[in-house]
Amino acid sequence: MSQTTRDGFGSRFGVLVAVAGSAVGLGNLWRFPYMVGNNGGAAFILLYLFFVILLCLPIMFSEFVIGRRAQANVFGAVNSIAPKSGWLSIGIISVVASISIMSFYSVVGGWTLEYVFKSFSPSFLTSNSDSLSDQFSNFSQRGLLPVIMHLLFLLISALIVVAGVKNGIEKYSKILMPMLFVLVILLAIRSLTLPGASEGVKFLLYPDFSKITSQTVLAALGQAFFSLSLGMGCIITYGSYVNKKENLFKISFMSAIADTGFAIIAGLAVVPAVFAFGISPDQGPSLVFITLPQIFAQLPFGNIIAISFFFILLIAALTSSISLLEVVVAYFTEELKISRKNSVIITFIIIGFFGTLSSLSIGPLKNILLFNKTFFDLFDYTSSNILLPIGGLLVVLFVGWKMKKEDVFDELSSGGSISLNKKIFGAILFVIKFMAPIAISIVLLNSIGIIKLF
Ligand code: TRP
Repeated sequence: MSQTTRDGFGSRFGVLVAVAGSAVGLGNLWRFPYMVGNNGGAAFILLYLFFVILLCLPIMFSEFVIGRRAQANVFGAVNSIAPKSGWLSIGIISVVASISIMSFYSVVGGWTLEYVFKSFSPSFLTSNSDSLSDQFSNFSQRGLLPVIMHLLFLLISALIVVAGVKNGIEKYSKILMPMLFVLVILLAIRSLTLPGASEGVKFLLYPDFSKITSQTVLAALGQAFFSLSLGMGCIITYGSYVNKKENLFKISFMSAIADTGFAIIAGLAVVPAVFAFGISPDQGPSLVFITLPQIFAQLPFGNIIAISFFFILLIAALTSSISLLEVVVAYFTEELKISRKNSVIITFIIIGFFGTLSSLSIGPLKNILLFNKTFFDLFDYTSSNILLPIGGLLVVLFVGWKMKKEDVFDELSSGGSISLNKKIFGAILFVIKFMAPIAISIVLLNSIGIIKLF
């Protein structure tokens, strides 16, 4: 079988760890809390959960189906099912989105790395919001240092990717992810018991639907895609390494539950503390970096907890960034026949360059605006709110309308080894063919003002 020539996952647990590892990352702990803060709280969370269940799960099944059917990188996979067709745009979107996401993701990865180092200094933990906010802006706007940290983060990711799937990706996350979960729960408990936390709990629990605009809905959709690593072929690529017998539903459900659980607990850890400390919830990307050290300061052995937390967050970010890099690297190696090592080097140079622009756009280049956005915001907005939804739309259309129904059934039932009721299959296919594409189209068209529903 082709499994012998291509690298693959060693075990069922390995697949789950890798897919969940890709999903759980800065998206949950850094991006989710600040998106909730920027978009008015509970109503945003409800929309987010709605999209995860209604859209993301079917898209995740679809990506797995494509990848495991074709056993190739995104471009090769689409080409083997629909040769030389317009569907190849899925491959193009994947590579562009991966580079675009990495161009800000590895900058934030670099911030995390810096905060691991910072946690060693005893003066780092203070309860003073202004001083923490100054610390963050002094660092992130400094120019050279954050650029170096971004390149270092990217280098570590690149080195893991060179090692290949089994040796690199699987090995690292097995023990550390559960540890991160425990730490975040600890933070949530501390945050919820701070004096003044109840305002934050209200913000998280009572939806104010009047705050929902077309941009909020788009942001919730983008966050759902981003957090579950969907819409740019990550899961197609990982799916291509999955054994034919593996139950795709189980992996999808478990990853989605782990990812969503992480996000919600991260929200509970950050938002109540934000209110308790009197920080404004719409700080944007700096929110977590300003809030968490203050929670650490309130805990016994705060320094040790801070070091462990930022270190494990760094690992979580790495297991996500390698999944992003793998999309580009698999494309270069399999389609352009470049060696794995050279593919990684080329990818490093491209992302190194754009990431540097995005890092500098927080400080020295902050006045250079394209479409009224800094480079950092532009990479983030374009990938999460435009490329991922369009990629996800194409993926469901591809599986629903282009692939043979028998092949889709064969993959979803793992070649008949799991019994899949025809009615349930029909319902899933209905969502993939009609509901998901219509829902994504409505959100996209509404956000650019072509239709006006909300
Ligand atoms: N989901 C990851 C996170 O939450 C980031 C990520 C990894 C991603 N692969 C992706 C986002 C693919 C979008 C698409 O941190």
